[in-house]
Amino acid sequence: MAIKPEDFFKNVISHCKEYGYIFQSSEIYDGLSAVYDYGQNGAELKKNIREYWWKAMVQLNDNIVGIDASIFMHPTTWKASGHVDAFNDPLIDNKDSKKRYRADVLIEEHVAKIEDKIEKEVDKAKKRFEGFDEAMFRSTNARVLEYQIKINDINNRFKTALNAGDLAEVKQLIVDLEIVCPVSGTKNWTDVRQFNLMFSTSTGAVTDESNIIYLRPETAQDIFVNYLNVQKTGRMKLPFGIAQTGKAFRNEIVARQFIFRMREFEQMEMQFFVKPGTEMQYYEEWKTKRLNWHLSLGLGKEHYKFHDHLKLAHYANAACDIEFQFPFGFKELEGIHSRTDYDLKQHEQFSGKKLQYFDVEKNESYVPYVVETSVGLDRLFLSILSSALKEETLEGGDTRTVLSLPPALAPIKVAVFPLVKKDGLPELAEKIINTLKFDFNVTYDEKDTVGKRYRRQDAIGTPYCVTVDHQSLEDNTVTIRNRDTMLQERMNITAIYTFLEERVSIKSLLKSL
Ligand code: GAP
Repeated sequence: MAIKPEDFFKNVISHCKEYGYIFQSSEIYDGLSAVYDYGQNGAELKKNIREYWWKAMVQLNDNIVGIDASIFMHPTTWKASGHVDAFNDPLIDNKDSKKRYRADVLIEEHVAKIEDKIEKEVDKAKKRFEGFDEAMFRSTNARVLEYQIKINDINNRFKTALNAGDLAEVKQLIVDLEIVCPVSGTKNWTDVRQFNLMFSTSTGAVTDESNIIYLRPETAQDIFVNYLNVQKTGRMKLPFGIAQTGKAFRNEIVARQFIFRMREFEQMEMQFFVKPGTEMQYYEEWKTKRLNWHLSLGLGKEHYKFHDHLKLAHYANAACDIEFQFPFGFKELEGIHSRTDYDLKQHEQFSGKKLQYFDVEKNESYVPYVVETSVGLDRLFLSILSSALKEETLEGGDTRTVLSLPPALAPIKVAVFPLVKKDGLPELAEKIINTLKFDFNVTYDEKDTVGKRYRRQDAIGTPYCVTVDHQSLEDNTVTIRNRDTMLQERMNITAIYTFLEERVSIKSLLKSL
Protein backbone atom coordinates (compact mmCIF):
# COMPACT_ATOMS: atom_id res chain seq x y z
CA MET A 1 0.00 0.00 0.00
CA ALA A 2 1.33 3.46 -0.93
CA ILE A 3 2.47 5.51 2.06
CA LYS A 4 0.59 8.79 2.74
CA PRO A 5 2.68 11.94 1.97
CA GLU A 6 2.40 13.16 5.59
CA ASP A 7 3.61 9.79 6.92
CA PHE A 8 6.46 9.77 4.40
CA PHE A 9 7.48 13.25 5.54
CA LYS A 10 7.50 12.05 9.16
CA ASN A 11 9.80 9.22 8.05
CA VAL A 12 12.14 11.75 6.41
CA ILE A 13 12.37 13.72 9.67
CA SER A 14 12.98 10.67 11.84
CA HIS A 15 15.52 9.26 9.37
CA CYS A 16 17.41 12.56 9.51
CA LYS A 17 17.62 12.28 13.27
CA GLU A 18 18.43 8.58 13.44
CA TYR A 19 21.30 8.77 10.96
CA GLY A 20 22.99 11.97 12.13
CA TYR A 21 21.66 14.29 9.42
CA ILE A 22 19.54 16.82 11.32
CA PHE A 23 18.76 17.40 14.98
CA GLN A 24 16.36 19.85 16.58
CA SER A 25 18.43 22.76 17.91
CA SER A 26 19.04 22.67 21.70
CA GLU A 27 17.07 19.45 21.92
CA ILE A 28 18.05 18.78 25.54
CA TYR A 29 16.16 21.97 26.44
CA ASP A 30 13.12 20.79 24.43
CA GLY A 31 14.33 22.45 21.25
CA LEU A 32 14.03 25.87 19.67
CA SER A 33 11.22 26.28 17.19
CA ALA A 34 12.22 26.41 13.50
CA VAL A 35 15.95 26.16 14.22
CA TYR A 36 17.87 22.98 13.36
CA ASP A 37 21.39 21.61 13.68
CA TYR A 38 23.14 19.54 11.03
CA GLY A 39 24.77 16.41 12.45
CA GLN A 40 27.86 14.54 11.30
CA ASN A 41 26.31 13.33 8.05
CA GLY A 42 24.13 16.37 7.46
CA ALA A 43 27.09 18.72 7.70
CA GLU A 44 28.91 16.70 5.00
CA LEU A 45 25.91 16.57 2.67
CA LYS A 46 25.30 20.30 3.11
CA LYS A 47 28.98 21.09 2.49
CA ASN A 48 28.94 18.99 -0.70
CA ILE A 49 25.80 20.72 -2.04
CA ARG A 50 27.34 24.12 -1.28
CA GLU A 51 30.59 23.12 -2.98
CA TYR A 52 28.76 21.90 -6.08
CA TRP A 53 26.84 25.18 -6.32
CA TRP A 54 29.97 27.27 -5.71
CA LYS A 55 32.06 25.43 -8.30
CA ALA A 56 29.26 25.49 -10.88
CA MET A 57 28.86 29.23 -10.37
CA VAL A 58 32.33 30.55 -9.65
CA GLN A 59 34.74 27.99 -11.09
CA LEU A 60 32.88 27.21 -14.32
CA ASN A 61 32.04 30.83 -15.17
CA ASP A 62 35.05 33.04 -15.78
CA ASN A 63 32.93 36.17 -15.27
CA ILE A 64 31.61 35.22 -11.80
CA VAL A 65 33.58 35.70 -8.59
CA GLY A 66 32.64 34.85 -5.01
CA ILE A 67 32.74 36.83 -1.78
CA ASP A 68 32.19 36.06 1.89
CA ALA A 69 30.73 39.14 3.60
CA SER A 70 29.53 39.61 7.15
CA ILE A 71 26.11 38.94 8.61
CA PHE A 72 25.97 42.34 10.33
CA MET A 73 25.75 45.33 8.01
CA HIS A 74 25.35 49.04 8.53
CA PRO A 75 21.69 49.52 9.58
CA THR A 76 21.10 52.03 6.78
CA THR A 77 21.56 49.11 4.35
CA TRP A 78 18.17 47.81 5.42
CA LYS A 79 16.53 51.22 5.16
CA ALA A 80 17.84 51.51 1.60
CA SER A 81 16.81 47.99 0.62
CA GLY A 82 13.29 48.56 1.92
CA HIS A 83 13.48 45.82 4.56
CA VAL A 84 12.94 48.14 7.56
CA ASP A 85 9.71 49.52 6.13
CA ALA A 86 8.36 46.72 4.00
CA PHE A 87 9.78 43.30 4.94
CA ASN A 88 6.53 42.40 6.61
CA ASP A 89 4.10 39.53 6.67
CA PRO A 90 0.41 40.09 7.44
CA LEU A 91 -0.44 37.95 10.46
CA ILE A 92 -3.72 36.86 11.97
CA ASP A 93 -4.57 34.82 15.08
CA ASN A 94 -7.41 32.44 15.71
CA LYS A 95 -8.89 33.39 19.09
CA ASP A 96 -9.99 29.84 19.92
CA SER A 97 -6.90 27.80 19.04
CA LYS A 98 -4.51 30.71 19.80
CA LYS A 99 -2.66 29.68 16.63
CA ARG A 100 -1.00 32.34 14.48
CA TYR A 101 -1.15 32.31 10.67
CA ARG A 102 0.07 34.36 7.75
CA ALA A 103 -3.07 35.90 6.26
CA ASP A 104 -1.63 35.60 2.73
CA VAL A 105 -0.91 31.89 3.26
CA LEU A 106 -4.48 31.22 4.44
CA ILE A 107 -5.78 32.88 1.27
CA GLU A 108 -3.24 31.12 -0.98
CA GLU A 109 -4.20 27.75 0.51
CA HIS A 110 -7.86 28.52 -0.14
CA VAL A 111 -7.00 29.35 -3.79
CA ALA A 112 -4.94 26.15 -4.04
CA LYS A 113 -8.02 24.14 -3.03
CA ILE A 114 -10.01 25.72 -5.87
CA GLU A 115 -7.12 24.98 -8.25
CA ASP A 116 -7.26 21.35 -7.14
CA LYS A 117 -10.93 21.27 -8.10
CA ILE A 118 -10.02 22.51 -11.60
CA GLU A 119 -7.37 19.79 -11.94
CA LYS A 120 -9.92 17.17 -10.86
CA GLU A 121 -12.36 18.37 -13.56
CA VAL A 122 -9.55 18.20 -16.14
CA ASP A 123 -8.54 14.68 -15.01
CA LYS A 124 -12.16 13.49 -15.15
CA ALA A 125 -12.55 14.85 -18.69
CA LYS A 126 -9.23 13.27 -19.74
CA LYS A 127 -10.53 9.87 -18.67
CA ARG A 128 -13.86 10.44 -20.46
CA PHE A 129 -12.87 11.81 -23.87
CA GLU A 130 -10.43 10.37 -26.30
CA GLY A 131 -8.24 12.94 -28.11
CA PHE A 132 -8.91 15.35 -25.21
CA ASP A 133 -7.81 18.94 -25.94
CA GLU A 134 -6.88 20.37 -22.52
CA ALA A 135 -6.51 24.02 -23.60
CA MET A 136 -9.92 23.96 -25.29
CA PHE A 137 -11.52 22.30 -22.26
CA ARG A 138 -10.07 24.89 -19.87
CA SER A 139 -11.41 27.75 -21.99
CA THR A 140 -14.92 26.35 -22.58
CA ASN A 141 -15.95 24.21 -19.61
CA ALA A 142 -18.45 26.15 -17.52
CA ARG A 143 -17.43 24.76 -14.15
CA VAL A 144 -13.72 25.34 -14.80
CA LEU A 145 -14.44 28.89 -15.94
CA GLU A 146 -16.49 29.53 -12.82
CA TYR A 147 -13.59 28.36 -10.63
CA GLN A 148 -11.13 30.47 -12.60
CA ILE A 149 -13.27 33.59 -12.19
CA LYS A 150 -13.46 32.89 -8.45
CA ILE A 151 -9.65 32.61 -8.24
CA ASN A 152 -9.16 35.84 -10.21
CA ASP A 153 -11.62 37.68 -7.97
CA ILE A 154 -9.85 36.51 -4.82
CA ASN A 155 -6.39 37.34 -6.18
CA ASN A 156 -7.48 40.79 -7.37
CA ARG A 157 -9.17 41.64 -4.10
CA PHE A 158 -6.17 40.45 -2.10
CA LYS A 159 -3.64 42.26 -4.30
CA THR A 160 -5.59 45.53 -4.18
CA ALA A 161 -5.96 45.33 -0.41
CA LEU A 162 -2.25 44.63 0.14
CA ASN A 163 -1.11 47.34 -2.25
CA ALA A 164 -3.35 49.83 -0.45
CA GLY A 165 -2.13 48.59 2.95
CA ASP A 166 -5.79 47.87 3.75
CA LEU A 167 -5.46 45.12 6.36
CA ALA A 168 -9.13 45.36 7.37
CA GLU A 169 -10.04 44.34 3.81
CA VAL A 170 -7.59 41.39 4.01
CA LYS A 171 -9.43 40.22 7.13
CA GLN A 172 -12.80 40.77 5.42
CA LEU A 173 -11.63 38.57 2.54
CA ILE A 174 -10.77 35.77 5.01
CA VAL A 175 -14.21 36.17 6.58
CA ASP A 176 -16.02 36.27 3.20
CA LEU A 177 -14.19 33.15 2.00
CA GLU A 178 -15.29 31.45 5.23
CA ILE A 179 -11.77 30.27 5.94
CA VAL A 180 -11.59 28.31 9.18
CA CYS A 181 -8.64 27.66 11.48
CA PRO A 182 -7.31 24.17 10.68
CA VAL A 183 -6.86 23.51 14.42
CA SER A 184 -10.05 24.85 16.06
CA GLY A 185 -12.24 24.72 12.95
CA THR A 186 -13.68 28.15 13.85
CA LYS A 187 -13.81 31.54 12.06
CA ASN A 188 -13.07 33.49 15.23
CA TRP A 189 -10.21 35.66 13.86
CA THR A 190 -8.35 38.67 15.26
CA ASP A 191 -7.60 41.68 13.05
CA VAL A 192 -4.75 41.35 10.56
CA ARG A 193 -1.54 43.23 11.43
CA GLN A 194 1.87 43.64 9.83
CA PHE A 195 4.89 41.97 11.37
CA ASN A 196 8.51 42.78 10.41
CA LEU A 197 10.55 39.65 9.84
CA MET A 198 13.99 41.03 10.66
CA PHE A 199 15.77 40.05 13.87
CA SER A 200 17.46 42.94 15.58
CA THR A 201 20.13 43.27 18.24
CA SER A 202 22.42 46.09 19.29
CA THR A 203 26.11 46.92 19.19
CA GLY A 204 28.07 48.27 22.12
CA ALA A 205 27.25 48.36 25.82
CA VAL A 206 24.28 50.72 25.75
CA THR A 207 21.05 49.65 24.11
CA ASP A 208 19.13 52.44 22.45
CA GLU A 209 17.56 53.19 19.08
CA SER A 210 20.82 54.50 17.62
CA ASN A 211 22.79 51.25 17.87
CA ILE A 212 20.20 48.75 16.66
CA ILE A 213 21.59 46.44 14.02
CA TYR A 214 19.94 43.60 12.14
CA LEU A 215 20.82 40.03 11.34
CA ARG A 216 20.73 40.03 7.55
CA PRO A 217 17.46 38.62 6.15
CA GLU A 218 19.14 37.90 2.78
CA THR A 219 22.76 37.69 1.59
CA ALA A 220 22.05 39.76 -1.54
CA GLN A 221 22.54 43.18 0.07
CA ASP A 222 26.17 42.34 0.97
CA ILE A 223 26.75 41.84 -2.74
CA PHE A 224 25.15 45.15 -3.72
CA VAL A 225 27.14 47.18 -1.20
CA ASN A 226 30.36 45.47 -2.37
CA TYR A 227 29.56 45.83 -6.08
CA LEU A 228 32.06 48.60 -6.75
CA ASN A 229 34.82 47.10 -4.56
CA VAL A 230 34.68 43.87 -6.54
CA GLN A 231 34.21 45.51 -9.94
CA LYS A 232 37.21 47.80 -9.47
CA THR A 233 39.62 45.41 -7.70
CA GLY A 234 38.70 42.52 -10.01
CA ARG A 235 38.63 44.78 -13.10
CA MET A 236 35.34 43.12 -13.97
CA LYS A 237 33.57 44.00 -17.22
CA LEU A 238 29.80 43.79 -17.67
CA PRO A 239 28.21 41.31 -17.71
CA PHE A 240 29.68 39.79 -14.55
CA GLY A 241 28.42 38.13 -11.41
CA ILE A 242 29.15 38.09 -7.69
CA ALA A 243 28.23 34.95 -5.75
CA GLN A 244 27.94 34.35 -2.06
CA THR A 245 26.76 31.64 0.32
CA GLY A 246 25.90 32.32 3.95
CA LYS A 247 23.43 32.51 6.79
CA ALA A 248 20.28 34.61 6.67
CA PHE A 249 17.73 35.14 9.44
CA ARG A 250 13.98 35.73 9.34
CA ASN A 251 11.55 35.76 12.23
CA GLU A 252 9.05 33.64 10.29
CA ILE A 253 5.53 33.64 11.71
CA VAL A 254 4.61 30.27 10.36
CA ALA A 255 7.78 28.24 10.63
CA ARG A 256 6.64 24.76 9.78
CA GLN A 257 7.66 21.89 7.55
CA PHE A 258 11.00 21.06 9.16
CA ILE A 259 13.94 22.73 7.39
CA PHE A 260 11.74 24.13 4.59
CA ARG A 261 11.03 27.35 6.50
CA MET A 262 13.46 28.19 9.27
CA ARG A 263 14.35 31.25 11.30
CA GLU A 264 18.07 30.72 10.64
CA PHE A 265 18.92 29.33 7.23
CA GLU A 266 21.52 29.49 4.49
CA GLN A 267 21.23 31.10 1.07
CA MET A 268 23.35 30.72 -2.05
CA GLU A 269 22.86 33.85 -4.13
CA MET A 270 24.39 35.31 -7.25
CA GLN A 271 23.81 38.82 -8.58
CA PHE A 272 24.59 39.15 -12.28
CA PHE A 273 25.30 42.76 -13.30
CA VAL A 274 24.36 43.60 -16.89
CA LYS A 275 23.92 46.53 -19.26
CA PRO A 276 20.44 48.09 -18.92
CA GLY A 277 18.22 46.75 -21.68
CA THR A 278 19.94 43.34 -21.82
CA GLU A 279 18.46 42.03 -18.57
CA MET A 280 15.68 39.94 -20.15
CA GLN A 281 18.16 37.97 -22.24
CA TYR A 282 20.20 37.14 -19.10
CA TYR A 283 17.06 36.47 -17.06
CA GLU A 284 16.05 33.78 -19.59
CA GLU A 285 19.62 32.46 -19.73
CA TRP A 286 19.84 32.09 -15.94
CA LYS A 287 16.45 30.41 -15.78
CA THR A 288 17.73 27.72 -18.14
CA LYS A 289 21.15 27.41 -16.47
CA ARG A 290 19.73 27.07 -13.00
CA LEU A 291 17.11 24.52 -14.00
CA ASN A 292 19.81 22.46 -15.73
CA TRP A 293 21.92 22.62 -12.58
CA HIS A 294 19.02 21.18 -10.57
CA LEU A 295 18.31 18.53 -13.21
CA SER A 296 21.95 17.40 -13.10
CA LEU A 297 21.27 16.04 -9.60
CA GLY A 298 19.13 13.35 -11.23
CA LEU A 299 16.11 13.65 -8.93
CA GLY A 300 13.72 13.57 -11.91
CA LYS A 301 12.62 16.27 -14.32
CA GLU A 302 8.97 15.84 -13.33
CA HIS A 303 9.72 17.15 -9.83
CA TYR A 304 10.52 20.67 -11.05
CA LYS A 305 8.43 23.44 -12.56
CA PHE A 306 8.69 27.18 -13.11
CA HIS A 307 6.19 29.44 -11.43
CA ASP A 308 6.11 32.93 -12.93
CA HIS A 309 5.30 35.72 -10.50
CA LEU A 310 2.18 37.56 -11.63
CA LYS A 311 2.47 40.08 -8.84
CA LEU A 312 5.95 41.59 -9.23
CA ALA A 313 7.82 43.22 -6.35
CA HIS A 314 8.25 46.97 -6.91
CA TYR A 315 11.94 46.52 -7.81
CA ALA A 316 11.50 43.67 -10.34
CA ASN A 317 10.57 43.63 -14.01
CA ALA A 318 10.43 39.82 -14.19
CA ALA A 319 10.50 37.08 -11.57
CA CYS A 320 9.90 33.38 -11.23
CA ASP A 321 10.49 30.50 -8.85
CA ILE A 322 11.83 27.07 -9.60
CA GLU A 323 9.42 24.92 -7.64
CA PHE A 324 10.17 21.42 -6.42
CA GLN A 325 7.77 18.67 -5.52
CA PHE A 326 8.47 18.29 -1.81
CA PRO A 327 6.62 15.59 0.17
CA PHE A 328 4.02 18.31 0.97
CA GLY A 329 3.57 19.47 -2.64
CA PHE A 330 5.19 21.82 -5.19
CA LYS A 331 6.89 24.70 -3.34
CA GLU A 332 9.53 27.34 -4.03
CA LEU A 333 13.09 26.06 -4.11
CA GLU A 334 14.88 28.90 -5.90
CA GLY A 335 13.97 32.42 -6.98
CA ILE A 336 15.20 34.07 -10.17
CA HIS A 337 14.55 37.80 -10.32
CA SER A 338 15.33 40.61 -12.72
CA ARG A 339 15.84 43.34 -10.10
CA THR A 340 16.52 46.26 -12.47
CA ASP A 341 18.86 48.96 -11.04
CA TYR A 342 16.66 49.37 -7.96
CA ASP A 343 19.04 48.12 -5.24
CA LEU A 344 22.18 49.88 -6.50
CA LYS A 345 20.26 53.13 -6.98
CA GLN A 346 18.81 52.91 -3.48
CA HIS A 347 22.29 52.38 -2.04
CA GLU A 348 23.59 55.33 -4.09
CA GLN A 349 20.85 57.50 -2.68
CA PHE A 350 21.24 56.43 0.96
CA SER A 351 25.06 56.33 1.01
CA GLY A 352 25.66 59.34 -1.21
CA LYS A 353 28.29 57.27 -3.10
CA LYS A 354 28.20 56.59 -6.85
CA LEU A 355 27.75 52.90 -7.71
CA GLN A 356 28.15 53.16 -11.46
CA TYR A 357 29.95 51.37 -14.24
CA PHE A 358 32.03 53.19 -16.82
CA ASP A 359 31.24 51.67 -20.20
CA VAL A 360 34.30 52.21 -22.40
CA GLU A 361 32.43 51.37 -25.61
CA LYS A 362 29.64 53.86 -24.94
CA ASN A 363 31.96 56.29 -23.17
CA GLU A 364 29.39 56.78 -20.42
CA SER A 365 28.65 55.77 -16.84
CA TYR A 366 25.47 54.11 -15.69
CA VAL A 367 24.07 51.96 -12.88
CA PRO A 368 23.98 48.32 -14.07
CA TYR A 369 20.84 46.20 -14.02
CA VAL A 370 20.85 42.98 -11.99
CA VAL A 371 19.57 39.45 -12.53
CA GLU A 372 19.55 37.46 -9.30
CA THR A 373 19.53 33.73 -8.66
CA SER A 374 18.75 32.83 -5.05
CA VAL A 375 18.44 29.33 -3.67
CA GLY A 376 18.04 28.14 -0.10
CA LEU A 377 20.69 25.57 0.81
CA ASP A 378 18.46 23.95 3.42
CA ARG A 379 15.58 23.61 0.94
CA LEU A 380 17.94 22.02 -1.55
CA PHE A 381 19.09 19.65 1.17
CA LEU A 382 15.45 18.72 1.87
CA SER A 383 14.66 18.23 -1.82
CA ILE A 384 17.65 15.90 -2.24
CA LEU A 385 17.20 13.96 0.97
CA SER A 386 13.44 13.45 0.62
CA SER A 387 13.83 12.26 -2.98
CA ALA A 388 16.55 9.85 -1.93
CA LEU A 389 14.79 8.08 0.93
CA LYS A 390 13.27 4.76 -0.11
CA GLU A 391 11.89 1.68 1.56
CA GLU A 392 12.52 -1.28 -0.77
CA THR A 393 11.15 -4.78 -0.68
CA LEU A 394 13.78 -7.26 -1.77
CA GLU A 395 13.48 -10.69 -3.29
CA GLY A 396 12.40 -13.05 -0.55
CA GLY A 397 10.27 -10.38 1.13
CA ASP A 398 13.07 -8.71 3.13
CA THR A 399 13.01 -4.90 3.25
CA ARG A 400 15.77 -2.32 3.31
CA THR A 401 15.92 1.45 3.87
CA VAL A 402 18.15 3.13 1.34
CA LEU A 403 19.16 6.74 0.85
CA SER A 404 19.93 6.96 -2.86
CA LEU A 405 21.73 10.29 -2.67
CA PRO A 406 23.55 11.53 -5.77
CA PRO A 407 26.90 9.74 -5.15
CA ALA A 408 28.95 12.94 -5.50
CA LEU A 409 26.96 14.54 -2.67
CA ALA A 410 26.88 11.57 -0.28
CA PRO A 411 28.53 12.29 3.11
CA ILE A 412 30.61 9.10 3.01
CA LYS A 413 31.78 7.93 -0.39
CA VAL A 414 32.99 4.48 0.50
CA ALA A 415 32.94 2.13 3.49
CA VAL A 416 35.70 -0.45 3.85
CA PHE A 417 34.99 -3.70 5.72
CA PRO A 418 37.21 -6.62 6.65
CA LEU A 419 35.12 -9.79 6.23
CA VAL A 420 36.37 -10.93 9.67
CA LYS A 421 38.28 -9.16 12.43
CA LYS A 422 41.39 -11.36 12.11
CA ASP A 423 43.86 -12.99 9.67
CA GLY A 424 45.32 -9.63 8.62
CA LEU A 425 42.08 -8.46 6.95
CA PRO A 426 41.63 -5.34 9.18
CA GLU A 427 45.23 -4.36 8.41
CA LEU A 428 44.66 -4.60 4.64
CA ALA A 429 41.40 -2.61 4.99
CA GLU A 430 43.35 0.08 6.86
CA LYS A 431 45.92 0.19 4.04
CA ILE A 432 43.16 0.70 1.46
CA ILE A 433 41.67 3.51 3.54
CA ASN A 434 45.06 5.20 3.67
CA THR A 435 45.21 5.31 -0.15
CA LEU A 436 41.76 6.90 -0.40
CA LYS A 437 41.27 9.16 2.61
CA PHE A 438 43.06 12.21 1.22
CA ASP A 439 40.51 12.54 -1.60
CA PHE A 440 37.38 10.79 -0.35
CA ASN A 441 35.44 10.60 2.88
CA VAL A 442 35.94 6.94 3.88
CA THR A 443 34.64 4.96 6.85
CA TYR A 444 35.68 1.67 8.42
CA ASP A 445 33.32 -0.87 9.96
CA GLU A 446 34.09 -4.34 11.34
CA LYS A 447 31.06 -4.85 13.62
CA ASP A 448 28.25 -7.37 12.88
CA THR A 449 27.77 -9.40 9.72
CA VAL A 450 28.66 -7.87 6.34
CA GLY A 451 24.94 -7.90 5.48
CA LYS A 452 24.15 -5.71 8.50
CA ARG A 453 27.04 -3.39 7.67
CA TYR A 454 25.68 -2.99 4.11
CA ARG A 455 22.26 -2.06 5.54
CA ARG A 456 23.80 0.56 7.84
CA GLN A 457 25.63 2.17 4.93
CA ASP A 458 22.52 1.98 2.69
CA ALA A 459 20.57 3.98 5.26
CA ILE A 460 23.34 6.59 5.49
CA GLY A 461 23.51 6.76 1.69
CA THR A 462 27.09 5.51 1.16
CA PRO A 463 27.28 4.71 -2.56
CA TYR A 464 30.00 1.99 -2.35
CA CYS A 465 31.17 -0.63 0.13
CA VAL A 466 34.49 -2.42 -0.27
CA THR A 467 34.91 -5.80 1.42
CA VAL A 468 38.33 -7.29 2.09
CA ASP A 469 38.28 -11.10 2.29
CA HIS A 470 40.80 -13.95 2.33
CA GLN A 471 41.13 -13.89 -1.46
CA SER A 472 42.28 -10.26 -1.13
CA LEU A 473 45.41 -11.47 0.68
CA GLU A 474 46.23 -13.78 -2.25
CA ASP A 475 45.46 -11.69 -5.36
CA ASN A 476 45.08 -8.09 -4.12
CA THR A 477 41.41 -7.92 -5.17
CA VAL A 478 38.33 -6.88 -3.19
CA THR A 479 34.59 -6.78 -3.81
CA ILE A 480 32.96 -3.41 -4.37
CA ARG A 481 29.22 -3.24 -3.85
CA ASN A 482 26.89 -0.68 -5.42
CA ARG A 483 24.32 0.81 -3.00
CA ASP A 484 21.52 1.14 -5.58
CA THR A 485 21.86 -2.10 -7.57
CA MET A 486 23.33 -4.06 -4.64
CA LEU A 487 25.54 -5.78 -7.25
CA GLN A 488 29.11 -6.62 -6.35
CA GLU A 489 32.12 -6.77 -8.62
CA ARG A 490 35.63 -7.90 -7.93
CA MET A 491 38.37 -5.44 -8.65
CA ASN A 492 42.04 -4.91 -8.05
CA ILE A 493 42.78 -2.68 -5.07
CA THR A 494 44.79 -0.36 -7.32
CA ALA A 495 41.68 0.28 -9.48
CA ILE A 496 39.46 1.53 -6.60
CA TYR A 497 40.71 5.12 -6.70
CA THR A 498 39.91 5.72 -10.39
CA PHE A 499 36.63 3.83 -10.08
CA LEU A 500 35.54 6.17 -7.28
CA GLU A 501 36.86 9.33 -8.87
CA GLU A 502 34.75 8.75 -11.96
CA ARG A 503 31.61 8.19 -9.91
CA VAL A 504 31.66 10.09 -6.64
CA SER A 505 33.67 13.28 -7.14
CA ILE A 506 32.09 16.73 -7.47
CA LYS A 507 34.12 16.90 -10.69
CA SER A 508 32.00 14.07 -12.14
CA LEU A 509 28.85 16.16 -11.47
CA LEU A 510 30.38 19.35 -12.85
CA LYS A 511 31.30 17.53 -16.06
CA SER A 512 27.65 16.58 -16.53
CA LEU A 513 26.57 20.22 -16.72
N1 GAP B 1 17.56 37.82 -2.31
C1 GAP B 1 16.30 37.32 -2.70
C2 GAP B 1 15.64 36.52 -1.66
O1 GAP B 1 16.08 36.43 -0.53
P1 GAP B 1 13.61 34.94 -1.25
O2 GAP B 1 12.64 34.35 -2.25
O3 GAP B 1 13.06 35.64 -0.08
O4 GAP B 1 14.54 35.89 -2.12
C3 GAP B 1 15.37 33.06 -1.66
O5 GAP B 1 14.58 33.80 -0.76
C4 GAP B 1 15.43 31.60 -1.28
O6 GAP B 1 15.84 31.46 0.09
C5 GAP B 1 14.09 30.89 -1.34
O7 GAP B 1 13.82 30.44 -2.66
C6 GAP B 1 14.28 29.74 -0.37
O8 GAP B 1 14.94 28.66 -1.01
C7 GAP B 1 15.21 30.33 0.67
N2 GAP B 1 14.47 30.75 1.87
C8 GAP B 1 13.78 31.91 2.04
N3 GAP B 1 13.25 31.94 3.27
C9 GAP B 1 13.60 30.79 3.90
C10 GAP B 1 13.37 30.24 5.20
N4 GAP B 1 12.68 30.90 6.13
N5 GAP B 1 13.88 29.00 5.48
C11 GAP B 1 14.60 28.33 4.55
N6 GAP B 1 14.85 28.81 3.33
C12 GAP B 1 14.38 30.02 2.99
